[in-house]
Amino acid sequence: MRHLLTTKGLDRDTAIGILDVAEEMAEASARTVKKLPTLRGKTVVNLFFEDSTRTRISFEAAAKRLSADVINFAAKGSSVSKGESLKDTAQTLAAIGADAVVIRHPASGAPTVLARSGWIDAGIINAGDGTHEHPTQALLDAFTIRRRLHGDASRGKGLDGVTVTIVGDIVHSRVARSNVWLLTALGAVITLIAPATLLPIGVGHWPVAVGHSLDRALETNPDVVMMLRIQSERMQASFFPNAREYSRQWGLDDERMARLYPTTIVMHPGPINRGLEISSAAADSAQSTVLEQVTNGVSVRMAVLYLLLSGEREGLA
Ligand code: NCD
Repeated sequence: MRHLLTTKGLDRDTAIGILDVAEEMAEASARTVKKLPTLRGKTVVNLFFEDSTRTRISFEAAAKRLSADVINFAAKGSSVSKGESLKDTAQTLAAIGADAVVIRHPASGAPTVLARSGWIDAGIINAGDGTHEHPTQALLDAFTIRRRLHGDASRGKGLDGVTVTIVGDIVHSRVARSNVWLLTALGAVITLIAPATLLPIGVGHWPVAVGHSLDRALETNPDVVMMLRIQSERMQASFFPNAREYSRQWGLDDERMARLYPTTIVMHPGPINRGLEISSAAADSAQSTVLEQVTNGVSVRMAVLYLLLSGEREGLA
């Protein structure tokens, strides 16, 4: 694996292979001494042009657990705010000797530009680009679903026939896009639920069913309900009348939560708008995997860094 830019085109066996390596990493993380010597001498740069809590500290923890040296670079406070281009930043990182660059950027496609540019020879990991993709989030979501369903017997398994309902701000969500491609490749059956204004143009060509009523979707008792954050920072227009109206129609409130099958898994990538797309009780319930997703994120990112930096760096683009 040379780079991880997207989950589109990731085939089932490769995806299961990554999840299986993540299982090994999770096992190592459960030991008293969590650190592995695997990436000693390698340098991982976290290049974040957009705010992040979970993803940045998760990649940092993952790289450190594999004994890599980690450089955290936030665009705020760097020469980027003086107008430095991605090219100059990349060349600087190359000069420092970065082996992998984990990049989050508000522009869709920025990680791909970096990977194809020739400015830097490092492995590039997309940690979220605009509204395009967030592949490690999808991998950690798939890992979390697989673990909830199969526990210790997860290795080697896909998500065949698992029904996943993804709800909310699909149009702005790179998490939804990466999940649609990955979970479908693993055999899951996906339904997207959102107001028409929050569905992307062209969604009719995606391998999913689309609906507007959360209540009707919940009647089908999906195995997984994945709630998405309303991404107000990406909204230049008004996409729904007001927050109360949104919650009433598309929020996972206490009443809807009570109607879920006791085995239905409730997911959210975070950060959560409590009371808007999900109630506090739903987010904190035993059916919710919100914190498990964070824990699993470290194992999945360890797997991706390992595959990029110590394996055969070829194949995936
Ligand atoms: C997501 C992101 O940044 O795309 N968060 C995350 O990485 N955990 C989703 C979001 O911001 O809503």
